[in-house]
Amino acid sequence: MTANSQVSIFPDADSLADAVADALMKIAADAIEENGRFIVSLSGGSTPKRLYYLLATRHINSIDWSKAIFLFGDERDVPPDHEDSNFRMANETLLTPIGIDRSQIHKWQTEIGDRQETARLYDETVRSLEQPIDLCLLGLGEDCHTASLFPNTEALKQNERLAVANHVPQLAEWRYTMTFPAINASRNVMFLVAGRGKAAAVHKVLNGKSDANAKPAESVKPASGQLYWFIDTDAAALLETA
Ligand code: 6PG
Repeated sequence: MTANSQVSIFPDADSLADAVADALMKIAADAIEENGRFIVSLSGGSTPKRLYYLLATRHINSIDWSKAIFLFGDERDVPPDHEDSNFRMANETLLTPIGIDRSQIHKWQTEIGDRQETARLYDETVRSLEQPIDLCLLGLGEDCHTASLFPNTEALKQNERLAVANHVPQLAEWRYTMTFPAINASRNVMFLVAGRGKAAAVHKVLNGKSDANAKPAESVKPASGQLYWFIDTDAAALLETA
């Protein structure tokens, strides 16, 4: 790990989510105090659901949520009301329960039916904020992907665009994803990883030999921000903590 990164291990997924929620609230409060707003990029998948529930319940009054701006680190190539949509998951578990105004939410416009235009618009959206993302939440796939930066895909090579459409042959589908330039410009990046199924990927990314194409998550290296790994003991089972 580098000087600006730290690994925290928790007994289970619930205590992990509790800790992430507390850490997120601290970052949010500091950002609002410093800049008058908190820009957060949400992760998809299933791991963050418990976190989103905690934010919308225990932390519903912890900050002035009207100061939060919501981005999505990646999205599936589906309409926003599709069961696989990351926007739909976050909307149901977090954004609607808190009562976030739609003007504070920047979802990928997957409904326009032109992938390159969807990606171009999102690139424009991220750039229009004119300040780094305060917190980028990420998950980790068993294949060491993060966001929708999958092994051996074109998006891994992108070093200018902040948001792209990415064809994922191993899934036989298109995805939308923020790129490493966008993620690594963040002031804070947090990986949330739980479950024994992720242990091999965690070990490969944190302990293994470098292989950026095979292990995209290893290229998440915030240029000047902080990198946090929040892992439960199952996902940390193969980690060399020595
Ligand atoms: C997505 C995510 C993806 C996810 C990992 C882990 O769109 O699915 O952005 O990168 O974070 O695949 O997913 P789980 O949390 O469901 O294990």
